[in-house]
Amino acid sequence: MKAIVVQQEVEGRPLLWQDVPDPAFGPDEVLINIHAAALNRADLAQRAGNYPPPPGASDILGLEMAGTITALGAEVSGWQVGDRVCALLPGGGYAEKVNVPAQLLLPLPEDWSFEQGAALPEVFLTAYVNLFMEADLQAGETVLIHGGASGVGTAAIQLAHQAGCRVFTTAGTDDKVAYCRQLGADLAINYREEDFVERILAEADGVDVILDMVGANYLESNIRLLKLRGRLVFIATMGGGRAEIDIWRLMGRRLRLIGSVLRARPVAEKIEIKERFMAQFWKKFLDGTLSPIIDSVYPVAQAEQAHAHMQQNQNIGKIILKIRD
Ligand SMILES: NC(=O)c1ccc[n+]([C@@H]2O[C@H](COP(=O)([O-])OP(=O)(O)OC[C@H]3O[C@@H](n4cnc5c(N)ncnc54)[C@H](OP(=O)(O)O)[C@@H]3O)[C@@H](O)[C@H]2O)c1
Repeated sequence: MKAIVVQQEVEGRPLLWQDVPDPAFGPDEVLINIHAAALNRADLAQRAGNYPPPPGASDILGLEMAGTITALGAEVSGWQVGDRVCALLPGGGYAEKVNVPAQLLLPLPEDWSFEQGAALPEVFLTAYVNLFMEADLQAGETVLIHGGASGVGTAAIQLAHQAGCRVFTTAGTDDKVAYCRQLGADLAINYREEDFVERILAEADGVDVILDMVGANYLESNIRLLKLRGRLVFIATMGGGRAEIDIWRLMGRRLRLIGSVLRARPVAEKIEIKERFMAQFWKKFLDGTLSPIIDSVYPVAQAEQAHAHMQQNQNIGKIILKIRD
């Protein structure tokens, strides 16, 4: 098959679409012909050599895809060759084929394109596990979602809004802020133009949960904003990974700080996350209340341009690579 291979030895680590061996698949796995894959910020870090795949995972980039099943492992039941599916991957998405544990598959709704399917798994499952399982976000609570226009942000805003929460968000341009409002954010703040702490404290007495991908730069502000028993979930460190904390402030307000990754979790945990996500939200995807947000679609041969678009923070929602029709 063909796949995108990072040319590690060449300056700039260019992405080349070239021949690689086909993936093998185990008895509890299916083999999939990939039609579309989606970019994630982690792909940029992996390409740069800063985010190696977990042990046993493919070293090909790509944490999610949509396609059709072409072969079933001996122990797989409930799926047929030809079924249209999408799934989370620990790697291997920028390719023509991939193997996936059958229990991790999500069925593509009939009227969905493969591009829509590819845009769903990583960001919706990340938003779901961190808001509802790690932070135990409840209806009626207020949540602050940083990076509101990111892939994860666009998923998190929609899920929290549908769950009956008051949603505050930050983003870096007026267009992004306007889009976050359309997705259901009650308050969206352009953090380049306004102090988000002051703005939030003018609207509310703080927030119950924060989904944070900025890290050190926002730590002081985030802690200031959390109400009694507030929860802060770190999912990335785009603004630095080291900071000082005044532990007394955590104690006094009984705050909880939570760190979380999805990719390195065991398959059984990912299956549980997928099942709980589907039980709570799948109907809303089928009736169109929730949907993945697609920023742009690139032919896979233009993966380089797709990466540049993400690197420049230009996307609202997901950037897709089209692998085949
Ligand atoms: N822990 C996990 O399991 C997990 C899983 C998935 C993703 N993530 C993380 O979640 C984040 C979002 O992922 P994604 O793929 O959805 O990203 P994305 O679509 O590339 O969006 C990231 C956005 O973050 C904003 N940003 C960049 N640097 C920033 C900084 N220093 N301070 C504030 N905002 C900044 C930019 O938007 P603005 O114009 O608004 O600044 C950028 O467009 C990434 O950091 C990713 O690594 C973590």
